[in-house]
Amino acid sequence: MSDKVTLEFNGNKYDFPVVEGTEKEQAIDIKTLRSATGLTTIDPGFKNTGSCESAITFLDGEKGILRYRGYSIEELAEKADFLEVAYLLIFGELPNDEQLAKFHSDIKKESHVDEEMKKILDGFPKSAHPMGVLSSLTNALIAFNPSSVNVSSESDMYHAIVRILAKFPVLVAWTLRKKKGLPLDYGDDSLGYVENIHKMMFKRPSEEYKCNKIVIDALDKLLILHADHEQNCSTSTVRIVGSSHAGLFASLSAGISALWGPLHGGANQAVLEMLEAIEADGGDTKKYMAKAKDKNDPFRLMGFGHRVYKNFDPRAKIIKVAADEVLNDLGIDDPILAIAKGLEKEALEDPYFVDRKLYPNVDFYSGIIYRALGIPTEMFTVMFALGRLPGWIAQWREMRLNGEPIGRPRQVYVGENLRPFVEVNKR
Ligand code: ACO
Repeated sequence: MSDKVTLEFNGNKYDFPVVEGTEKEQAIDIKTLRSATGLTTIDPGFKNTGSCESAITFLDGEKGILRYRGYSIEELAEKADFLEVAYLLIFGELPNDEQLAKFHSDIKKESHVDEEMKKILDGFPKSAHPMGVLSSLTNALIAFNPSSVNVSSESDMYHAIVRILAKFPVLVAWTLRKKKGLPLDYGDDSLGYVENIHKMMFKRPSEEYKCNKIVIDALDKLLILHADHEQNCSTSTVRIVGSSHAGLFASLSAGISALWGPLHGGANQAVLEMLEAIEADGGDTKKYMAKAKDKNDPFRLMGFGHRVYKNFDPRAKIIKVAADEVLNDLGIDDPILAIAKGLEKEALEDPYFVDRKLYPNVDFYSGIIYRALGIPTEMFTVMFALGRLPGWIAQWREMRLNGEPIGRPRQVYVGENLRPFVEVNKR
């Protein structure tokens, strides 16, 4: 392989190094392009721009591969639990028993959220979208935890990480309980990390909390599948906000806002609303397939297509099987699942979708499981944020430890050239 590319421009030749990743991905290093040639690059949506070198997550969109720190998503979803995966993503290795127990115990010690935060929660209307509430509460946490993180101190960094892993689930639970009009609940240190989250979300005031293993396992799996996905929209947001040396919580709060959009994490809510609308409209999947293909109709088949996966989304495969299992185990017969499967079958045989390499993504079946677990539709993206938290933290930590420069893309200006100011009465 050649270790450089040569660019010819205005009769001159310039060499640029080619860097190669551990999975043999190759990229042109254009750091000196501007100083050498005066040129910049243009790539709206960063469709082919590498913003960093990262050792956290590898994905190959053509082959449908997703790995966290070298471990396949299939194996992690089957054998690991969410807290182990969080540790793996953030610190780079799977924890041994002792490390995991310490990690969990350190998290438990930080699981209180200042009572004053409840006043902020009280101020939101019950009708507020949970993602708006969650991003506001996450930002508010900064005011209650003002000490800035000294990123050159591993212990400072560790404590900030443990604090947010402890407090964020409490905010998620509060967001749900506010929506449902339930009194706020506190965790129980005797429970596992995910079980405790479930307890905080669902414990009814008049009942003893009982854990349902099927529900906890399904939740664990969903959180693992969402835990990281390299330089997607919200992760890039977290990294770019953090690159200004904004703190961890502020960077995360920005990531939550980015995740909210229906083209990103908000798709899981949009998928379920779409499936419900199709059901209410008589279940005619063909009609909606035609709408999705009609260029004069803004309707898109939500949960289909992906910027990177052009073969299949490996997470969608795992979730599809899990959806069947969970509904079966819980004895739920949900007509929405049949509609989803029908749409998938038609899309996979339709030249419009086949030619454009549009396959179900992670969000296509996840909402069906969330619904079976009793999670309201508006909370789906909040659940995604809960799963993505370790990935955001890992990426923020990596960016700061690598000493990356402030993120600041260039542009090609296409506006007016210099023109004289015109007084208001002469315009
Ligand atoms: N339904 C119908 N047509 C689609 C869909 C869809 N879901 N997705 C893409 N297309 C079509 C586009 O209209 C376009 O067609 P054209 O070439 O004739 O103009 C072509 O496929 C390429 O689509 P782009 O939007 O250019 O692809 P891009 O990589 O920019 O977008 C995205 C990817 C945003 C995920 C897109 O497929 C989409 O909007 N999907 C639905 C929303 C969704 O499910 N988002 C979740 C993504 S996963 C995640 O964030 C966790």
